Amino acid sequence: MNQHAFVQPEPFTADQQNMLSDAISGLSAQRKTLPSKYFYDEEGSRIFDEITELSEYYPTRTEAEIMDLYGQEIASIAGERVLLVEYGSGSSAKTRILLDRLQNVAGYVPVDISGEYLYQVAENLQADYPNISVLPVVADFTDPFSLPRETDPAQRVIVYFPGSTIGNFTSSEARKILSQMADLCGSDGGVLIGVDLMKPVQLLLAAYNDSQGVTRRFNLNLLHRLNQELGADFDLRQFRHEAVFNPDESRIEMHLFSLQPQVVCLDGMRFRFTEGESILTEYSHKYTIDSFQKLAASAGLETQRIWTDPNRLFSVQYLTHAAQA
Ligand code: SAH
Ligand code: AVI
Repeated sequence: MNQHAFVQPEPFTADQQNMLSDAISGLSAQRKTLPSKYFYDEEGSRIFDEITELSEYYPTRTEAEIMDLYGQEIASIAGERVLLVEYGSGSSAKTRILLDRLQNVAGYVPVDISGEYLYQVAENLQADYPNISVLPVVADFTDPFSLPRETDPAQRVIVYFPGSTIGNFTSSEARKILSQMADLCGSDGGVLIGVDLMKPVQLLLAAYNDSQGVTRRFNLNLLHRLNQELGADFDLRQFRHEAVFNPDESRIEMHLFSLQPQVVCLDGMRFRFTEGESILTEYSHKYTIDSFQKLAASAGLETQRIWTDPNRLFSVQYLTHAAQA
C-alpha cells in the first residue's frame, strides 16, 4: 500500500453537524456565544461532578439537604406507581434519595445529552435498584423526544428536574421546556424541580469562580471539545475563565475572555477575537420564589409546594398542570 495514501477524515455525525452549525452561528454573532449544552461530553459530565463537591458550590449540597429532610413528604405527594422522568439527570445522585422513598416505582427514565456518561450511570443504578426498570434516553430535552416503548402511556408521570438546570435557559426557553413538562405530566402527574434562589452576589461569584479552578476547567473543556470533535484550533492557554453577575437579568454569566488578539479556525472559517473579547458560554439564572412562580404560571404550571433550606439558598418545588387545581 502506498505509504502516503490520503486518509479520508471521518465524516461528522449528525450530532457533530448540529454542534458545528451551532458553534458557527454562535461565533459569528456580534456578541460571541456557545450553547452551554455542549459542556457535557463524558469529560464535561465528570468535571461537573467535581464542581458539585466544591465547598463554594452550594447548590448540589443544599438541594441534597432539602431532599434528605423532606424526601419522605415529597415521595408521598408524588404518589405510588409513578413513572419518574428526569431531565438532565447527570450522575442521578439526588435521584437516589427519591428512589429510596418512592413506593412501587413504575420506571425511571433518565434523559441526558451526555450519552456515554448516561449509560454508565444507568447501569450502576439498575444494579443498585433491581426492582426498578431504568430506561435511559439520550436526547436534547429542548427538542421533542419519545419515552422508551417499554413505558406504559397510561402511567402517571412525575417529571424530575433537579440542579436548577432550568436556570441555564433564558425565560422564553425555560417557558418552552416547562410547557413540554406540563404536557408530559398531564393532568394527573407533577413536576418536581430544583430552583436556585437569589442571594448575596459574593456567594454567587465564589460558586462560579472557585478557588481550585474546577469551573475554569469545565468552561475550557467546551473549547477542547470543539478542537477534538470538530477540528477547531482554539489555543486554550489564550482564553481566561470568568463568571460575572448580571443584576439586570439576575443571572451569572460564564465567559471565556481572549487574552490577546487572535484568529481561530473552524471548518475552514476564521473567527477573529480582539484582546478582552469574550465568548459567553452559560447563563445561570437566580430566581425569587415569586419570579419563578410567575415563570411556571406562564407555562401552565401551578406551584403546589415549596421546600427550602433554612438559609433559603435553594428551593425544591412541586408544580402541577394549572388545570388540575
Ligand atoms: N441533574 C444533575 C446534573 C445537573 S448538570 C444534578 O442536579 O446534579 C446538567 C445536566 O443536564 C448534565 O448532565 C447535562 O448533560 C444535561 N443537559 C444539559 N443540557 C441538556 C439538554 N439540552 N438536553 C439534555 N440534557 C442536557
Ligand atoms: C447545571 N447547572 C445548573 C450548573 C449551574 O450552576 O448553572 C452548571 C454550572 N456551571 C458552572 N458551575 C456549574
